[in-house]
Amino acid sequence: MDLILRENAFLGETHIVTGAAQGIGFAVAQALARHGAQVAMVDLDAGRLEEARSRIDEAAVEPLVVPANVTSEEDVTRAVATVLEANDCINGLINVAGITRDSRITKKSLEDFNLVLAVHLGGTFLFTREVAKQHWHPLFKANGNSPLEDGLNRFIVNFSSVSARNGNIGQVDYTAAKGAIESVTRTTAREFSGYRVRVNAIAPGPVNTPMLAGVGEQGIEAMKRATLLGKVAEPEDIAATVIGIACPRVSGYTTGQVFAANGGLYMA
Ligand SMILES: NC(=O)c1ccc[n+]([C@@H]2O[C@H](COP(=O)([O-])OP(=O)(O)OC[C@H]3O[C@@H](n4cnc5c(N)ncnc54)[C@H](O)[C@@H]3O)[C@@H](O)[C@H]2O)c1
Repeated sequence: MDLILRENAFLGETHIVTGAAQGIGFAVAQALARHGAQVAMVDLDAGRLEEARSRIDEAAVEPLVVPANVTSEEDVTRAVATVLEANDCINGLINVAGITRDSRITKKSLEDFNLVLAVHLGGTFLFTREVAKQHWHPLFKANGNSPLEDGLNRFIVNFSSVSARNGNIGQVDYTAAKGAIESVTRTTAREFSGYRVRVNAIAPGPVNTPMLAGVGEQGIEAMKRATLLGKVAEPEDIAATVIGIACPRVSGYTTGQVFAANGGLYMA
């Protein structure tokens, strides 16, 4: 893939990407690896992760494969410990993993509602907590509870969606989770300011990934028409925005914000 920033902009950094086996998570892992980061690729299935790792192109450092279910406290605790054993620093966390279980409220089961919240909101919380608990907070304590001014890049990028603000029929669970993730982003930015972690979210519009598979051709055409730019994004477009948020040269003074990447579908 083409560079977005300078060569090796993230060399020496370790970034965890959840949902990295396909779609946007894979594109984010690819873009970070292309810029020199060691990427820890997290997803449900070890086989799919190995296959995804084999498709990563021009990585300066071989990505790690860390299978974990983001809804499992045990898995997430172990995944973060595994990354720290391999490389005793974590610079970035990108919480991408997600699912949909679309149906209108009258037909929605509590089980599906809870599962969608557990993956998006619960997974974001668990990874955020564990990276801070196992790594950033101990650094802060060792620094006499003083802000970390070591100049290292530290950041979180959470995944919201345009539908958090715009609503979407069939997605009461998904839109609730995404709205909550935007709030979680602001609270985490406040709590982690002493760790000098920039915490932001991205809210994409429609993106051409397996998540859109059920929408059908007519639905995709309607989505394109709803944007000002007349198209659905590719995963690489969203990954490029993540690269800009991750880079302290581009976004070093930005924290607690939600970046809209929706082609003008919604303007707030
Ligand atoms: N595609 C879009 O149009 C769109 C729009 C706005 C926001 N988003 C958000 O972007 C993110 C990525 O979406 P995508 O389109 O790439 O989806 P996708 O379905 O292509 O990929 C999601 C990945 O998450 C993984 N995953 C699901 N549950 C998991 C779990 N419990 N533990 C670990 N991994 C798990 C899946 O295995 C899959 O590899 C999601 O948070 C989604 O809500 C997508």
